[in-house]
Amino acid sequence: MNKFYITTPIYYVNAKPHLGGVYTTLAADVLARWHRMKGEKVFFLIGTDEHGEKIAKKAEEQKMTPQQLCDQNAARYEQAWDTFSISYDRFIRTTDPEHEKTVTDVMKDIYNKKLIYKGTYHGLYCVDCERYYTAKELVDGCCPLHQKKAVVLSEKCYFFKLSAFQRPLLKMILKNEWIIEPEERRNEVLGFLKNEKLEDLAISREKVKWGIPVPWDNSQTIYVWIDALLNYLSGINWHPNEEKRPEQWPPDIQLIGKDILKFHTIIWPAMLLSLGIPLPKKIYAHGFFTVEGQKMSKSLGNIIDPEELAVTFGAEALRWMILSLFPFGQDGDISQTKFYDKYNAELSNGLGNFHRRVLTLAAKKDIYPLHEADDFKRKIKSVWEKYETSLDHLKFESALTSINDLIGFCDKYINQKEPWKLFKKDIAEYQKVLYNLLEGLRHLGWLIQPFMPEKSNQIFASLGLDNLEKEKPLTKGKQWGQTEFKKTIIGEILFPRL
Ligand code: MSP
Repeated sequence: MNKFYITTPIYYVNAKPHLGGVYTTLAADVLARWHRMKGEKVFFLIGTDEHGEKIAKKAEEQKMTPQQLCDQNAARYEQAWDTFSISYDRFIRTTDPEHEKTVTDVMKDIYNKKLIYKGTYHGLYCVDCERYYTAKELVDGCCPLHQKKAVVLSEKCYFFKLSAFQRPLLKMILKNEWIIEPEERRNEVLGFLKNEKLEDLAISREKVKWGIPVPWDNSQTIYVWIDALLNYLSGINWHPNEEKRPEQWPPDIQLIGKDILKFHTIIWPAMLLSLGIPLPKKIYAHGFFTVEGQKMSKSLGNIIDPEELAVTFGAEALRWMILSLFPFGQDGDISQTKFYDKYNAELSNGLGNFHRRVLTLAAKKDIYPLHEADDFKRKIKSVWEKYETSLDHLKFESALTSINDLIGFCDKYINQKEPWKLFKKDIAEYQKVLYNLLEGLRHLGWLIQPFMPEKSNQIFASLGLDNLEKEKPLTKGKQWGQTEFKKTIIGEILFPRL
């Protein structure tokens, strides 16, 4: 059986998820469901990033212990992932004892390999990012993400010999042994490795108390990014001292947003190379949202709450809309108006209307026997081909376009055939036309499954197929003419008008 292992970044637990943040995990979930649908063995890892100064400060403001704040917010994340039907296999938290053990053991291993040394760090630090910036990276002395003044810090700490990995990483990328997608992101990393000198990395903090202690020096805690990246190993129970390696390593894909590209394409592989384990097969960095042309940020007050949107449109509709607005690897702009337009055009008037129209017509007879139909069959085959290639290449929006294309084809077919007239004059022909449409709907049920699993079940149920359909392998499900249709049910409206 083919396997497909996928990870998403672990989310900062200092707040609840915002729409931008949800994006990575929604896409990963569609991918996980797609690979499961293909019959592959999937392992899908998600989690929360819980250490660091920011969390400790927030907890203090809220008169809580950091652990209490983390527990409260991690639960919010779990709740949000339930709302959005995220089918993860493991939710790892960086305050889990197993995680802390993996981090401790990994650090000892790298230390014993003499890749860590003690020194003093002087630098410009953004408290919100929990990272140092070079003067060049700051904009008028401010962090480019938070627009806040960076503070000068000087501290004793341990350094990881990141500089030793500049050439090996460059070589691996050039030889395609380390795959970064899309192309622009690969070029960005290549440009950096070719033109800038990679400095050793400060991997511990004296001042930060809320963190995992450095195993050989309790006066320091491990830098939150080193701690966080290791979730990908602790999440599969990987320990340096254990002979038996978890089968989930290396992951087939690690999905991230472009803001955390360098952490995942430079620091992360360097850590893995020091541990002597294979690199993930692929890192894919998606683009960023802007809201009506502006960056989504607290200071601009334009943060969109995904759970509120889910109340308006339904969580599944939101899964569809968010992935169809712009190509996954690129940046894109979103707005309330765009969501309303999409919902009305593609879901309410598109799929929803077609579903209701066909089932209303189908209610006129009890049975629709199986039969061959060349045009319809050809169309469906070509839709599947485009859809599969799109999903295999993370082109979610183009997979959704193929679905819309099939809906358009079906709508046109109804208008051409005018089955309501056929019903009066040629019942056998009526049954054939309706069979094709019901079969079209069955395929739509399959095609939408990774995007809208509940709506897909609803479609199968209204066709009278239910679990019978869900238990079929995809190879069978996507073939034309699987079953006769009998006792169809109109059921609830898929996408109510707003
Ligand atoms: N905790 C780190 C990740 C550590 S992984 C070892 C982190 N967390 S985050 O909560 O800030 O971001 C989680 C995910 O959301 C990341 O993939 C990030 O790129 C993504 N996004 C956050 N804001 C976004 C937008 N405005 N648009 C699209 N994706 C965004 O980073």
